Amino acid sequence: MKEMLTIAMPKGRIFLEAVELLRGAGYELPPEFDDSRKLIIEVEEEKFQFILAKPMDVPTYVEHGVADLGIAGKDVMLEEERDVYELLDLKISGCYLAVAGLPDKKMNDVAPKVATKYPHLAAAYFREQGEQVEIIKLNGSIELAPIIGLSDRIVDIVSTGQTLKENGLVEYEKITDITSRLIVNPVSYRMKDARISELVSRLSKVVNPA
Ligand code: PRP
Repeated sequence: MKEMLTIAMPKGRIFLEAVELLRGAGYELPPEFDDSRKLIIEVEEEKFQFILAKPMDVPTYVEHGVADLGIAGKDVMLEEERDVYELLDLKISGCYLAVAGLPDKKMNDVAPKVATKYPHLAAAYFREQGEQVEIIKLNGSIELAPIIGLSDRIVDIVSTGQTLKENGLVEYEKITDITSRLIVNPVSYRMKDARISELVSRLSKVVNPA
């Protein structure tokens, strides 16, 4: 009998793309899956259990082994630095991380402030640039910070660029490209090797068609 695989999925915009990818790989996920408000969904026929988590928390569930696998953005992986393996670049939810701010505005010479949802990642980036900054952690609507005078710069995700544009901000530097990754708990990877390898192989064919 096939063993159950628990997969932590990010709620929100990545979720639907990830579900489509799994369907493309031949897994039968029921239609009501798409607009359910349930946080745990079992698909008995495929022996999958899905946990719907906040994107930033996906690696936490996987590291602790309550989920065997997870789908997490590279941004979250860089910020969280969890003890998990990255198995596959799913090439969905493409976007990038950038430094942005008000146009023609130099950074303050003394302790410039950078607002972000990614404090570790942003701190590491500015350290590498040899710039000393004060990081201000926010949980969303990051674009507000420079407009309202809370920070000189922001480090945030840019997808279409619409949010920056509509708020009169410009991009100063691109930090790195981001896509979603399939991640695994190291112990699950050993214990459920056959099922996980099959999933990776089926997904790979969809993600990287020959
Ligand atoms: C993300 C990100 C930007 C926006 C970028 O925010 O933090 O604000 O999307 O997308 P765009 O380039 O297509 O405009 P999200 O919608 O996740 O909400 P948040 O601001 O609450 O984090």
